[in-house]
Amino acid sequence: MTERHNPPDPETVDFGYQQVPSAEKATRVRAVFDSVAPHYDVMNDLMSLGAHRIWKRFALSQTGLKPGQAALDLAGGTGDLAVGLARQVGPSGQVVLADINRAMLERGRDRLLDRGVTGVTCVQADAERLPFRDAAFHCITIAFGLRNVTDRVAALAAMARVLKPGGQVLVLEFSQPVAATLGKVYDAYSFALLPALGRLVARDSDSYRYLAESIRRFPDQATLLGMMREAGLEGCRYHNLAGGIVALHRGWRY
Ligand SMILES: C[S@@+](CC[C@H](N)C(=O)[O-])C[C@H]1O[C@@H](n2cnc3c(N)ncnc32)[C@H](O)[C@@H]1O
Repeated sequence: MTERHNPPDPETVDFGYQQVPSAEKATRVRAVFDSVAPHYDVMNDLMSLGAHRIWKRFALSQTGLKPGQAALDLAGGTGDLAVGLARQVGPSGQVVLADINRAMLERGRDRLLDRGVTGVTCVQADAERLPFRDAAFHCITIAFGLRNVTDRVAALAAMARVLKPGGQVLVLEFSQPVAATLGKVYDAYSFALLPALGRLVARDSDSYRYLAESIRRFPDQATLLGMMREAGLEGCRYHNLAGGIVALHRGWRY
């Protein structure tokens, strides 16, 4: 095991590089996203130099959704994936944008309306306790959200529960760069540049330090695959993007 994984103590959980009581993490994560919500989209573009758009486009290309089907974008924030899902399922389909954070969800709803996307249902919900009936969705996406969740296996199991048989979960998340040299450059970038950008644009370096740390603490590709299997998903596999800086994990319910 490396420092990337949670220690076995079930009473504490990682919050960036800190260990905090499990019951506290959601409150701290909420404070981070309350603070970053107003600048979230511009910071996303700045921090990834626009690459998050390519990663999200790739995730959308893998949904297999057809017109008339139902999709859930979980931890969907400002709704980038929900827009793409809505286009894929069309007016006869159904898209739910769910997020635990009201400020992020409100920005998501406003952005959907600004882009002329109607018919997406916005729901404030915790990924660990999804307020949807069993087997409700053909596809569930969660982009850059799972690392903020306290009990990730519980969230993945909740996703498996609300997935229709034959449906899939797509987890887009920061992961482990495959080449050590890339890892070093990436470390320098995340721990020097991200908090500095956060300070400059959002006047909040702490939240962006948390984001950089939470990326490093997130399980690597193989460990996440194991968590998805533990949660009851089948046929699990992943695809590295940008040399493993990001990975798209996929799992099905058969
Ligand atoms: C980095 S943002 C990603 C937003 C969007 N999916 C994207 O890719 O741009 C992470 C989102 O996860 C949400 N989140 C954190 N913990 C959550 C939880 N337990 N359940 C649902 N959403 C959660 C946050 O509120 C935030 O909007």
